[in-house]
Amino acid sequence: MILVTGGAGFIGGNFVIDWLAQSVEPLINLDKLTYAGNLNTLKLLEGDARHHFVHGDISDRGLLGRLLAEHRPRAVINFAAESHVDRSIHGPDDFIQTNVVGTFNLLEAVRAYWQNLPADDKAAFRLLHVSTDEVYGTLAADDAPFAEIHAYAPNSPYSASKAASDHLVRAWHHTYGLPVLTTNCSNNYGPYHFPEKLIPLVILNALAGKPLPIYGDGQQIRDWLYVKDHCSAIRRVLEAGQLGETYNVGGWNEKANLEVVHTICALLDELQPRADGLSYAEQITFVQDRLGHDRRYAIDARKLERELGWKPTETFETGVRKTVEWYLGNSGWIANVTSGAYRDWVQQQYGV
Ligand SMILES: NC(=O)c1ccc[n+]([C@@H]2O[C@H](COP(=O)([O-])OP(=O)(O)OC[C@H]3O[C@@H](n4cnc5c(N)ncnc54)[C@H](O)[C@@H]3O)[C@@H](O)[C@H]2O)c1
Repeated sequence: MILVTGGAGFIGGNFVIDWLAQSVEPLINLDKLTYAGNLNTLKLLEGDARHHFVHGDISDRGLLGRLLAEHRPRAVINFAAESHVDRSIHGPDDFIQTNVVGTFNLLEAVRAYWQNLPADDKAAFRLLHVSTDEVYGTLAADDAPFAEIHAYAPNSPYSASKAASDHLVRAWHHTYGLPVLTTNCSNNYGPYHFPEKLIPLVILNALAGKPLPIYGDGQQIRDWLYVKDHCSAIRRVLEAGQLGETYNVGGWNEKANLEVVHTICALLDELQPRADGLSYAEQITFVQDRLGHDRRYAIDARKLERELGWKPTETFETGVRKTVEWYLGNSGWIANVTSGAYRDWVQQQYGV
């Protein structure tokens, strides 16, 4: 079996669902259930004996040690993190605690377990650490996309904490020989995305007749990857990645935020038109830019394609259509996630 951390979050939840749809191998899902962890995402796995959910913290080395000793996983995949840049600006403490201290505790627990495995199991074991392209900092309009050799230059408390975790993972390989793999991925979107992030926020605000908040001039560029493609990349790296290597994962879909929002508005205009016949784009509202907002991220994912044969299957156009359709068809999940606490947060953040 494998052990997944953060598997009640957006990407981890999609990964768990896809894993159990494609494999007979069971998994343990360790998640602290912060505001971003949502067991409703895993509802369709109720009654599936291969899914073993454990409520707990990656910083709890004792709990990790017990889980590892009891279940003897062949791999650990670390999704657990505080993941929202805006929240890291308002309150960086949790980011340091989970992303840095938590990863450190996970590494130590896994090292203690791995060191005592029988030789064959020890050789086959993998720890895959899921990270972000934000560790590389920002790019000018004509800079080449981030390749794996790009120097780390994180600019937000979130990206700095993820960069620190990547360095710890790297060091545990070089110092102790721990068999690690790291993936650095661009912006994900798709089903089960918590609506504080741009794409689900825009879909839900549009449908609710609320303003669609755009930071600054909306010309910040991100590479977008459909979450199911990220999950397939992680499975591929786990299966065939070279120990100690990092792999950049991206969708070759650079888009300005404003273009993303217009694309969503056009899809909603087609799939669920406004009663007054006007476009949802009428709801776009420019708000003050985020502090220290990175201008452009772009990913060079050629290493993953060249060495492991991975390519994304969705373009932005096909992936975002699936995403909008998913939100239109899953009002139960949305009603659960849009709690009072969540609305307070959006109000505090965007003032709308
Ligand atoms: N969302 C993206 O676009 C993106 C892109 C690249 C990389 N990543 C990385 O992928 C990973 C998952 O991102 P996501 O968007 O699914 O995040 P998310 O915020 O949706 O989910 C994080 C999950 O981790 C859990 N968690 C938080 N602290 C924990 C702790 N101390 N112990 C155990 N569980 C804990 C939460 O309850 C939640 O279920 C993160 O490491 C993130 O940095 C995200």
